[in-house]
Parts: sequence; C-alpha cells; structure tokens
Amino acid sequence: MNTQPDTDQFDTVLVVDFGAQYAQLIARRVREAHVYSEIVPHTISAAEVAAHQPAAIIFSGGPKSVHVDGAPSIDPDVYDLGVPIFGICYGAQLIAHQLGGEVSKTGKGEYGRTDLALSGESALFGHDQPESQVVWMSHFDSITRAPDGFAVTAATPETPAAAFESVERRIYGLQYHPEVGHTPHGQEQLKHFLHDVADCRPTWTMTSIIETQVEAIRKQVGAERVICGLSGGVDSAVAAALVHKAVGPQLTCVYVDTGLMRKGESDQVVDTFQRHQGIELIHVRAADRFFERLVGITDPEDKRKAIGERFIREFEPAAAGLSDAKFLVQGTLYPDVIESGTPDAAKIKSHHNVGGLPDDMEFELVEPLRTLFKDEVRRVGEELGLPEEIVWRQPFPGPGLGVRIIGEVTPERADLLREADAIVREEIHKAGLDREIWQVFAVLLADVRSVGVMGDERTYGHPVIIRAVTSDDAMTADWARLPYELLEKLSSRIINEVPGINRVAYDVTSKPPGTIEWE
Ligand code: XMP
Repeated sequence: MNTQPDTDQFDTVLVVDFGAQYAQLIARRVREAHVYSEIVPHTISAAEVAAHQPAAIIFSGGPKSVHVDGAPSIDPDVYDLGVPIFGICYGAQLIAHQLGGEVSKTGKGEYGRTDLALSGESALFGHDQPESQVVWMSHFDSITRAPDGFAVTAATPETPAAAFESVERRIYGLQYHPEVGHTPHGQEQLKHFLHDVADCRPTWTMTSIIETQVEAIRKQVGAERVICGLSGGVDSAVAAALVHKAVGPQLTCVYVDTGLMRKGESDQVVDTFQRHQGIELIHVRAADRFFERLVGITDPEDKRKAIGERFIREFEPAAAGLSDAKFLVQGTLYPDVIESGTPDAAKIKSHHNVGGLPDDMEFELVEPLRTLFKDEVRRVGEELGLPEEIVWRQPFPGPGLGVRIIGEVTPERADLLREADAIVREEIHKAGLDREIWQVFAVLLADVRSVGVMGDERTYGHPVIIRAVTSDDAMTADWARLPYELLEKLSSRIINEVPGINRVAYDVTSKPPGTIEWE
C-alpha cells in the first residue's frame, strides 16, 4: 500500500542516518514541528535524494570519527541540489570535512551540558535566541575551521566553530544536539530551521494524518471486504479504527481470545469495538484449546511456537468464513520499516507476534500506520476517540501471560497470575505512574514453592515476581525505582488477596543483562 503522504499537502524532510540511535529522535522532533520526515540511509545517492523532492535534509549524529577508515559519508552531489541541509554533530563534522573545513582531534571532546556563545548575524538562529545558552554535547573530534565561504555563528570552550552556515549555499551545521531535551532551545532552533529557513509547511497534524490515511485506505480497498485481527494492543486497535472510519461496514475484526490475556482485557476489546465503535467483530473463544495445546510445555520457545500455531489455526477459519475478504489490516509502524544503515541487532527471543500470519494466506495488506511513530499512533487513537486504556496500553507480548508463567501453563495458574497482575496494575495506576513506566507486570514462578506463615498457619505457596521497567524502545531498559511504600502495598495486597501466593519479590535487573520478560 502506498502510504507516502501527498506532496501537495506535505513537505518531506529527509533525515540521513549516520548510525546509532539519533536519526529516529530527530525524525520525531521534525514531526513534532508538524513537518513530515523520513529516515534514509547515508548510502543514498544524490539522484535518489532528489527523487524524494525533499524540502530539507538533516544529517544525523553518529558514533564514528570522520577520520577513520569506513566512516559513513554522503554522496557529495547532495550539496549541490539546492535543498537546505542541516548537519547535527557528526553530520556537521561531515559537512565541514567534505566541504574543505577542518575537523581536528584536539584530544578534548565535550560531553554533556556545555556553554554556547552566539556571535554575529545568523539565519539559523534568527533574532530570538539568547546569545549565551546551554547545549548538549557528545563529541570527541572538534570542528576547528568552517569551510571557506561559511560564517561561524557560535562557539563553545573547546569548539571554535560550534555553529556555521552558508546562507547562499543553504547549508547549516551544529556541533551540539538540538534534538535532545537537555538542549533547552534546541526544538525552537529546529523549528526555526524548518519553518523559516527551509520554508517547510507545518501541515503534519493529527487531523491531516487521519484525513490522508482515510483517503488512501478508501482508494486501496474500493468496495472490497477487509479483515483485521485485533490483539488488544494499541497498534491493531488504531489501525482498525482508521480503517473503520474509512470504509465502515466493509471492515470485520477478528479477536482470538487465547485465555492468556490480562484481567478484563477481552471484555474491553469487545466492548470498545463492537459496542462503542459499532465494528463487526468475530469473537473466537479459544481459551480451552490453547490450554490443551500447552499441556506439558515448559520451554519458553516451545510455548511461543505452540501459542503462535494455535492462533493461526483459530484465525484462519474465522477469516475463511469471510470468503469475500481481499484485504488484511496490519498495524506495522514506521520503525519496523525503516531501512537504516545500522545492522540488525541480534535476536534474543523469537518475537513472532501472535497475529503473525503465514505467507500463504492470500490477502493484500492494508498498513495505515506504516509512516507513523508510536507516539503519533497514540495521538491518532485519541483523536479517533479510542479509550485511554487502549491508547495508552503498555506493550504486551503476543503469547500473553503464557510467557509470564514460569513452568507449565494451566488455566488455574493463568487465573492466579491474572489476579496478581491486576493488583499490580491497579496500584501503579493509583500511584499515577502509568506513563512513566514502560511495562509493569507480575510473573508467576509456578514451579517454585516456599514456606511461609499466615496467622498461625504454615503456608507452602508460589512466589510472584514484580517486574517494572523504564525504557524508550524496549531494546534497553532499567528497573523502575518504585517507592518502598508502593512495593509494600503490592506485596501485602497480593499475598492477602491471591490465595496460593505467599511471597512477593521485586526484580532489580536491567536489560541488558536481563530481558524485560522472564521467558
Ligand atoms: P524482552 O523480554 O526481549 O522484550 O526484553 C522486549 C519487548 O518485547 C515484548 N515481547 C514480546 N512481544 N511476542 C511479542 O509480541 C513475544 O513473544 C514477546 N516476547 C517479549 C516484551 O513484552 C517487551 O515489550
């Protein structure tokens, strides 16, 4: 499906990825300034850049030195396209290096908060910036001389050319990171570059995103029937709501109830989609068959495989019943499709989503979230009137509670864990911590027992582990520093209210070396 926004309505900023994690953050900041952005690898040719008809190009930071062999570079013809270019950190060093300035190994890098002093007239800074300000630095080499014909417009103690520009060539460079929150005036500077220097139109808003996608979906689907598998998560929910807005009764959703969802989740899915949004929903009640398939399985990867296979066997007949369906909705997001210069990270777990369907199902895909970042998906969901609990739902693994029961998965164990998990989520919500914490949940050590005492009675029950992590993208995570009072409350409520649990422990492992889930 072509989901690229219409160039009549949106200007495109290309963010060239020079490695590490900077490009995505820059692309998101550009969109926060209401301009559409796309990430491209640094191996892109000038002709390919031109084919995108970009309104501006931003070079991201990166972890390398321009002086090492194999340092990422860019086709130098890009500088002659006449499109405004804005280099950030490594990007600025590369501009200086390629256009004849000087990048030196001074032996004195700058890291963290640094004082920046502006000097002289600058198109990039305009007239509203304080002459002295704090910026966030993270570099080892320094730009010691700007290329000929460029004006130096700011300096820091260790970087004589911390900002340089050529208005004539429409090329600008900053040694620091305007995209990070630690540079207080950074977003204003980025906005000024986009709106005033590069003349990008600020049309990338939630309303226009929805309108564009609705139109694209209508064009793709025509009068045909569309199927959408709902997982209970935010991506499939927003994708379904968008498609419903576009083609209404042509959409049928399928929700496979695995018996491994959290407390109240299945009801909420049915309630939201069937009752409130008026979407036709096939609710496949398959819990018994999932539990049957899981008998005797304890290995995490075997569990994932069993659950994934069972899911397909439940989904297929439901979809086959809609024999006229030609299209299948998928909640693919922009980070999943970015072709970046960075090699794939090693896979630790087989994250085949429940909902990942076999290739031989003959549907054409509808992917209305393909251009969006997660925060944009959430805002689109809010705009479409989906309830907060769905829009702000934390990531939840496809195999559900199955990978949070350590040991064999049985209905009784799933019930125990569901109760403990509900208490954890309720208390975190009451403490107002929902949005600060990336994921928080309970894990049941079903094969472990320990001795305890309640009243005068000896107990011999299972431990529950509480896992709460902060993270930006689940690639790395830190354990959340939950207040002791909250942990105390969680512990006493779980032990008092969930029979069979007599011990609660808090997981203080970050990722790496741990993973977020226990299996
Ligand atoms: P880990 O445990 O690898 O998890 O640190 C990273 C993120 O992925 C989620 N996760 C899964 N999601 N199917 C999924 O759809 C899976 O099998 C699966 N395993 C882990 C996890 O909740 C976290 O957000």
